[in-house]
Amino acid sequence: MNAIEIRDLWVRLGKELVLQGINLEVEEKSTLAIIGPNGGGKTTLLRAILGLIKPERGRVLIFGEEPERQRAKIGYVPQLSLFDRDFPATVYEAVKMGAYRKEHGEEKIEKALKMLEIEELKDMMIGELSGGQVQRALIARALVGEPEILLLDEPTASIDYEAKTSFYDLLPELKKTIVLVTHDVGIISESIEKVACLNRKLYYHGEREGALENVSELYHCPVDILAHGLPHRVLREHE
Ligand SMILES: Nc1ncnc2c1ncn2[C@@H]1O[C@H](COP(=O)(O)OP(=O)(O)O)[C@@H](O)[C@H]1O
Ligand SMILES: [Mg+2]
Repeated sequence: MNAIEIRDLWVRLGKELVLQGINLEVEEKSTLAIIGPNGGGKTTLLRAILGLIKPERGRVLIFGEEPERQRAKIGYVPQLSLFDRDFPATVYEAVKMGAYRKEHGEEKIEKALKMLEIEELKDMMIGELSGGQVQRALIARALVGEPEILLLDEPTASIDYEAKTSFYDLLPELKKTIVLVTHDVGIISESIEKVACLNRKLYYHGEREGALENVSELYHCPVDILAHGLPHRVLREHE
């Protein structure tokens, strides 16, 4: 069964048709990266998958059901913002906020901290961490509820090259269905199995390797791609 199925989804925000005729199937336990420019509708698509937006047309199915009924199966990691850095909580407290059911006790919190390799940071304030460490804390928070699907909004936006690499190495270990959205085209690592491009409409490219040139077309400019762990320029510089 597909973890996520989107059928002819149209979303209007104000006057704009932000999502236009989106079709997408995400297999269980697969990792999909959706790449697109700012304003392309990436965050809106994640919100639609979460069932937070009522589409004008079409539908989203999570394991064959309405998102509202399946929300506990979805972990959401919002885009890292200045707000998160000022968050007046320790790492432990922030992660604990993801434990919204009784059974997500101490043990689950410790497990999530360990998974993200941030146990030794647990008493530090969020504001004292590096971008990559905050990102890990937010992912741990999303994992405490033991979701089957993990949605990540711009997970590499404010972290340095090394933290990006270790972030991508982490994804297969999570053993979840993962959808990440990003405007950072430098991210296509070995951990990503499938790639789609989103700019109001969605272009599904399937396997990562074949997707590289299409990404460049979407941006109409040269792009660096991180393939096999190495930055790789797929188009020449502008004249
Ligand atoms: N609540 C809203 N009301 C009206 N327009 C919105 C709203 N939220 C986002 N938009 C518009 O929808 C478009 C897509 O936004 P968004 O999904 O945030 O794109 P992305 O995450 O790819 O940068 C943008 O043009 C944005 O201005
Ligand atoms: Mg966004």
